Amino acid sequence: MPNNNSLGAAREAKNDEFYTQYADIQKEINAYLDFNPDVFRGKTVLLPCDDPEWSNFTKFFAQNFQLLGLKKLISTSYAPESKKYKVAYEPTLFETQQPYYDVDKSKTHGKIFVLTQDLTGDNRIDINDLEWQYLEGDGDFRSKEIQKLRDEADIIVTNPPFSLFREFILWLFESGKLFSIIGNVNAISYKEVFPLIKDNKMWMGVSIHSGDREFGVPDSYPLEASGWRIDEKGKRYIRVKGVRWFTNIDHGRRHEPMQLMTMSENIKHSKHKEIRGHDYIRFENYDAIEIPYTDAIPSDYEGAMGVPLTFLDKYCPEQFEIIGHPHGDYGLELGLRPFPRELKAHNKGLRDGDLYYLKDGKPELPYRRILIRKKK
Ligand SMILES: C[S@@+](CC[C@H](N)C(=O)[O-])C[C@H]1O[C@@H](n2cnc3c(N)ncnc32)[C@H](O)[C@@H]1O
Repeated sequence: MPNNNSLGAAREAKNDEFYTQYADIQKEINAYLDFNPDVFRGKTVLLPCDDPEWSNFTKFFAQNFQLLGLKKLISTSYAPESKKYKVAYEPTLFETQQPYYDVDKSKTHGKIFVLTQDLTGDNRIDINDLEWQYLEGDGDFRSKEIQKLRDEADIIVTNPPFSLFREFILWLFESGKLFSIIGNVNAISYKEVFPLIKDNKMWMGVSIHSGDREFGVPDSYPLEASGWRIDEKGKRYIRVKGVRWFTNIDHGRRHEPMQLMTMSENIKHSKHKEIRGHDYIRFENYDAIEIPYTDAIPSDYEGAMGVPLTFLDKYCPEQFEIIGHPHGDYGLELGLRPFPRELKAHNKGLRDGDLYYLKDGKPELPYRRILIRKKK
């Protein structure tokens, strides 16, 4: 019988094969262009987890090559036999009709697709002008071959494999390049990710804040319970919660300060029953107040505040600074006091390094918080 770890690994592997919708990519890239129309001009863009047969990233950047003013588009794909989640593999006509089609390489090698110029002679540079060949290796983004392409590129964009998100982030930062990638909101808490957000080296994108997003999945993907759809062509889609863009490309939203009420206005008028008519709760083990909703942050409070992770969707670095992520060892490093042992009897979830407050003498833990303070 598979154990929990192998089930977890199987679930993660399955989640490596989510295909992003064109409209989601378009919305995000348009937001960067609104802020800086020339952000892609003269640039080489690398899509390192993207087979044009599947990837709307390749379609989007190829179709908009001229509009964006790109110099070069490179899209690489991962060998079918190297994928953790195995799907029945059929090479496409596009591949098999090429004179250099190779039955074996088709399964064991990645492919590289490059777009630089009009090859078809229709005076347009678009997806029909993509040239391709097999890679030397399987297209693993960690390989020397793809690393070299990363170093050639100016901007890297993709939805990377879910199970390798941490590695992918480190790989991006090693390169120092601009990027925009899709990931899960929970990644904010990863030790590889949070410091980058805190230091304003990476931030959330513009276009996805809440709710779920629809992704394409392979035909063999199990459709469980709810949140799936099969279109008229038989293609499968599932809805995924907690999706976000993570980027270091500047955009306008992050320079728009939130419109907030003062503390006394909140207490008088807040739409949240936890706030209206009450004082803000103070944490027991750190000098900060508890903010259960981002829109309840008091504009005039000068001290530290524990806010929900979703604050980052509205974060404007000119308005607030991030103090840290008060959980476990990081919380202890921030100076959160250990809880008195007798409190454990009232709340088994208490953990040194996590924020808690007392309600009717009993400890309560808010769901994940970030500590912030108003920018001086
Ligand atoms: C989440 S999917 C997204 C695909 C595409 N970027 C999109 O959004 O439509 C991630 C893709 O990366 C591929 N992949 C998995 N491990 C990889 C690796 N080590 N290097 C490169 N690609 C990998 C997966 O097979 C999958 O096709």
